[in-house]
Amino acid sequence: MKGVIMSLLIKNGTILTATSEFTGDLYIEGETIRQIGSNLNMDADRTVDAAGKYILPGGVDEHVHYGSFGGRLFETAEAAAVGGTTTIVDFAPQEKDVPLLDAIRQQAAKAEDISSVDFAFHAVIMDPKESVFEEVRHLPEVGVATLKLFMAYKGTAFYCDDEAILNAMMNAKEAGVTMMVHAENADIITILTNHYLSQGKTAPVYHYHARPPIAEEEATGRAIALAKAADCPLFVVHVSAKEAMEAIRKAHSQGWPVFGETCTHYLTLTTDYLDQPGFEGAKYICSPPLRPQEHVDALWQAVREGWLTAVGSDHCALDGGFEGAKKKGTNFSNIPNGCPGVQDRLALLWTYGVCTGTITRQKFVELFATNPAKVVGLPGKGELRIGADADIVIFDPEWKGVITNKDSLHGIDYEPFEGFKIQGRPEQVYLRGRLVAENGVFVGERGKGKWQKCQPYGLCYDYYHK
Ligand code: URP
Ligand code: ZN
Ligand code: ZN
Ligand code: ZN
Repeated sequence: MKGVIMSLLIKNGTILTATSEFTGDLYIEGETIRQIGSNLNMDADRTVDAAGKYILPGGVDEHVHYGSFGGRLFETAEAAAVGGTTTIVDFAPQEKDVPLLDAIRQQAAKAEDISSVDFAFHAVIMDPKESVFEEVRHLPEVGVATLKLFMAYKGTAFYCDDEAILNAMMNAKEAGVTMMVHAENADIITILTNHYLSQGKTAPVYHYHARPPIAEEEATGRAIALAKAADCPLFVVHVSAKEAMEAIRKAHSQGWPVFGETCTHYLTLTTDYLDQPGFEGAKYICSPPLRPQEHVDALWQAVREGWLTAVGSDHCALDGGFEGAKKKGTNFSNIPNGCPGVQDRLALLWTYGVCTGTITRQKFVELFATNPAKVVGLPGKGELRIGADADIVIFDPEWKGVITNKDSLHGIDYEPFEGFKIQGRPEQVYLRGRLVAENGVFVGERGKGKWQKCQPYGLCYDYYHK
């Protein structure tokens, strides 16, 4: 059933938060959670029995590409909804001579009439110069509190050197803007890429060899050093190498406001997927690359212990997919980067994290919704609490199935997790009190997603206000 409802009572579910779980009821009025408790007896327009089901906050995916790096917004938002994610955060890359704040407004205008889930943005500097660094201080005025810079992708407009990063950090910390970095040493990548290509080694698996863990370890260590020099909060995105995670663990445990994210594909896929006959491995080309099993194990340990604080999808369903985008590449170095995954994040974290006993249900909620909302600075999201947005997933833990591209709404021709067994599925997904997905079917409406304005100091309020 779809449409606006005035009030909704969800009864008898097991309410999951990042710190607790209990059998209870949830009362929603309009777009907001108004009551949480046992045996609530409100007279609601609609009552849903959630006995035997978990009730969890709608997911917040802090790492999604639909306007940046290709991808299509309409499909991305629908895929997110069906997969239990009600807020997606994309990047707003800046074109040369376009002020940072304008780049964000432009990106938001594109999403406004299309997105069926809520959306927010990270800024991206692509025109590093004094006036742009100064603009970083004004990002919170347009509802942005995170800024991504790229240490990789040398030779493109994305690349920033250490001087640019440090300049940006010196301004970011003044406004409580968290710096995000894509941490891979660009020179190692360039030299090793040329080395393999000169030997005729062109297959997708050389994407991994040209971007070894040391490239990520070095850049992560350097980003941390720059963050320490500037005393700026740092969130290292898509951590894939255990050595990079170790550097974050060390800085974090020394009390620095240094945090990290990993992504579902680094927790579930290995380098073997790149190393397949023919061009198949191209489907799995993303940066940093998929790593061998020892890194996968270390990343699970890191999310369990809290050294990595969020799990994003880095969803990047390149327009054209495998046939139309990936196959345009002629060797590992020019195959477009990125894999889809926004729809699968909940299912994979639950099945391969919770069901295996690797993480608790509370840790799952933290990684999937609560911490991503904190990282980007959205206090009304990612939590089941009175006053929060009524973004809610009623989750059936008994459902069993298999991921397949025909059930994926991302709009491209392949699924990196094809054939993965899944336990549990969102039975109903509500966005601010409105039903947007039911049992794998999208029932929401285009354009109903709202731009969410982020608050500064996200995860590190205490650090800067002691
Ligand atoms: O390969 C990836 N991750 N593509 C998306 C862009 C990025 O660096 O996050
Ligand atoms: Zn100013
Ligand atoms: Zn990146
Ligand atoms: Zn990304």
